[in-house]
Amino acid sequence: MSPLNAAIIGTGHALPENVLTNDQLEKMVDTSDEWIVTRTGIRQRHIAGPGEYTSLFATAAARRALDMAGVDPAELDMIICATVCPDMMLPATACFIQSALGAKRAAAYDMAAACSGFLYGLTVAEGVIKSGRCRTVLLVGAELLSRYVDYTDRSTCVIFGDGAGAAVIRATEEPKGILAARIRSDGDLADYLYTPGGGTRYPASEETVKKRLHYIKMRGNELFKVAVRNLTQISREALDDLKMAPNDVDLFLPHQANQRITEAVTARLGIDPARVYSNIDRIGNTSSASIPIGLDECVRAGRVRPGDTIMMASFGAGVTYGAVIMRW
Ligand code: UT7
Repeated sequence: MSPLNAAIIGTGHALPENVLTNDQLEKMVDTSDEWIVTRTGIRQRHIAGPGEYTSLFATAAARRALDMAGVDPAELDMIICATVCPDMMLPATACFIQSALGAKRAAAYDMAAACSGFLYGLTVAEGVIKSGRCRTVLLVGAELLSRYVDYTDRSTCVIFGDGAGAAVIRATEEPKGILAARIRSDGDLADYLYTPGGGTRYPASEETVKKRLHYIKMRGNELFKVAVRNLTQISREALDDLKMAPNDVDLFLPHQANQRITEAVTARLGIDPARVYSNIDRIGNTSSASIPIGLDECVRAGRVRPGDTIMMASFGAGVTYGAVIMRW
């Protein structure tokens, strides 16, 4: 380890109160609780109410992480909001979070790496901390995918949920924090998961709305196979960087995309399923928020202890993927 390490010193998460169950979805589209549970592992997801927006949940998650860390917002050097569901096209949602927290000194910007946003953000945070440019970084993964989901499309509306998770990352000379970080993309597969309307290619118009271009489009089955392959490969690379065996990891926390993806990757890596965390049954797929929500649940439940090794792996639209191994 280099003398200056980047360690997570506080975590938090926030979910909308409103819950959408599989039984409720059965009344909205041609699906069944049985299909959703066996194909995805999801039983319910949290969905934001009218008038709620991404930075509300991001800020609530951030406050909890700052409280746990004992860090005042004025100490933050940088705020990264990993999101593909910004409050507005402009400015960055991170700036709304900064304002709500009163984090006057912080640089604030968004990171659009879809479901891999939290691990991309951790990798950047590690870089700015190790270089000495920043001492304390707030990283939030926050998504309100329900705003982009077509609730007449059964192939996507059963999967996604809303929520936010946050981490405070700080420079430390103690032998802990991020040990290995690998991130990668394959833009050739951009059309496996995308939202075409509302950007510069198809600017918002009556026609884009009529053609439902502002909704998420997904080639789920093809994405599933790439997800299993890429998650397995990038996790192996991160483990190899540290000459670690899969079961040297105390906790494997993968992005919660689909319980069957988690199980396939766990089996391929040969990780003991008892070391794997899953909350997809309660929360669904919350994109960049899924890993920090899971991490916060594990920390608060005492499932991670000082000295434990945690491997996180993610995969998402782009496609983007990554794996980060850290010592708690
Ligand atoms: O967050 C990271 C990015 N996202 C992902 O990684 C998602 C990856 N993909 C998946 O999780 C899965 O592919 C899905 C859950 C989206 C779909 O599961 P699948 O086992 O791959 O199903 P499929 O797309 O191959 O469809 C199988 C059948 C089709 O019917 P036919 O053609 O066999 O008659 C679908 O129309 O299941 C049908 N189907 C459904 N049936 C009931 C698709 N969605 C539903 C549904 N309820 N909600």
